[in-house]
Amino acid sequence: MGGRDKTRQAPIHSAIPNLRNIDVPSDSAKEILVLGIETSCDETAAAVVARDTVTGRGRILSNVVRSQWESHRAFGGVVPEIAARAHVECLDDIVREALSSAGVPLSGLDAIAATAGPGLIGGLIVGLVSAKALALAGDLPLVAVNHLEAHALTVGLTEGLAPPYLLLLVSGGHTQLLAVVDLGRYRRLGTTIDDALGEAFDKTAKLLGLGFPGGPAVERTARDGNPARFPLPRPMMGREVPHFSFAGLKTAVRQTALSLTPLHPGDVAHLCASFEAAVADCVRDRVVRAMSIMDNQPPSGREPNDHRHLVVAGGVAANLRLRAGLQRLCTERGYTFHAPPLSLCSDNAAMIAWVGALRFARGETDPLDFAARARWPLDAAAAPAIGAGRLGAKA
Ligand code: KG4
Ligand code: ZN
Repeated sequence: MGGRDKTRQAPIHSAIPNLRNIDVPSDSAKEILVLGIETSCDETAAAVVARDTVTGRGRILSNVVRSQWESHRAFGGVVPEIAARAHVECLDDIVREALSSAGVPLSGLDAIAATAGPGLIGGLIVGLVSAKALALAGDLPLVAVNHLEAHALTVGLTEGLAPPYLLLLVSGGHTQLLAVVDLGRYRRLGTTIDDALGEAFDKTAKLLGLGFPGGPAVERTARDGNPARFPLPRPMMGREVPHFSFAGLKTAVRQTALSLTPLHPGDVAHLCASFEAAVADCVRDRVVRAMSIMDNQPPSGREPNDHRHLVVAGGVAANLRLRAGLQRLCTERGYTFHAPPLSLCSDNAAMIAWVGALRFARGETDPLDFAARARWPLDAAAAPAIGAGRLGAKA
């Protein structure tokens, strides 16, 4: 579109991780090609992914992500209206870039996949309507993808790992432990009763003046701190059901910070390190509990140890301290640890295209009147978690 001021926009980031064990098939006629579009939050992304119909293996042909951080930084968080408008401004360029760097014309695709939820409704509508227009123009099927399912199944694209496995999904809006039984089949074992883990990182960063997005800033700052310097609470540890709670931890960080005012850079580093240590302990405890549930009630019809894989996914899965702690835990418990490469932990469209390819292969496509969903749980049958604030609640 002519006349658009592109100088204020963040540069397009094109990331194709070096995926191990993924061979380029010799006969490309056996591949299906899917364009994915992601606009559920503050990343505008498009990607082309190929899936070999014989081996089921995937490869990324292009993966274009434009972050909107600059547009939201002044507000200390994502502003839904700004996010939706920013997607409108650049999605056409991003899709064009994804197709051209993959070397695939619209007519060469087999399907168009777009995130249809959960997320910020304005942004979801932008991406989904664009995908519908492309599907109509190219006479292609549409696959409406659940963003959480895309995080959940990314390891199938990057490592060829198939369900069943235990999933720790940690993002800006969700914190859940799920038994991944199959494509489209999830059993929720635990969830947060208040803040999501990414949200807790973002709020901690904000109150310590570290800026936005908070997760990477807290992780960077924590490197210079002493994790044992401040004794912060470990909410929910020891509880039977593997739910999470992070609101109290965030409040404890605030109270500690207030008691230290004026804060010195050393204090901020110690607080970040102590916060990360508390998070690592809580997550470890909750994952141990979820592993016991999986071991006692493994997904049916499988070999007894088939499920003994732990996958961490979502934006917070980029946290190296968290990854290292989970890796150690898996070694102790006889689980295999899996995590997407760092560039595929945060929101991207390769994971959307991948789920599109998996569902297309099963003949599952969606009608053009499919509506975007702000809320779309992976396990719709799961009971609401009981709030920690209630007296006598057993979460
Ligand atoms: O999955 P994601 O990109 O978007 C959502 O679907 O929410 O996750 C974004 C979240 C943000 O809260 C961000 O602060 C957090 O992931 N995050 C991190 C790290 N990188 C991103 N949290 C902790 N450590 C990191 N290195
Ligand atoms: Zn996400």
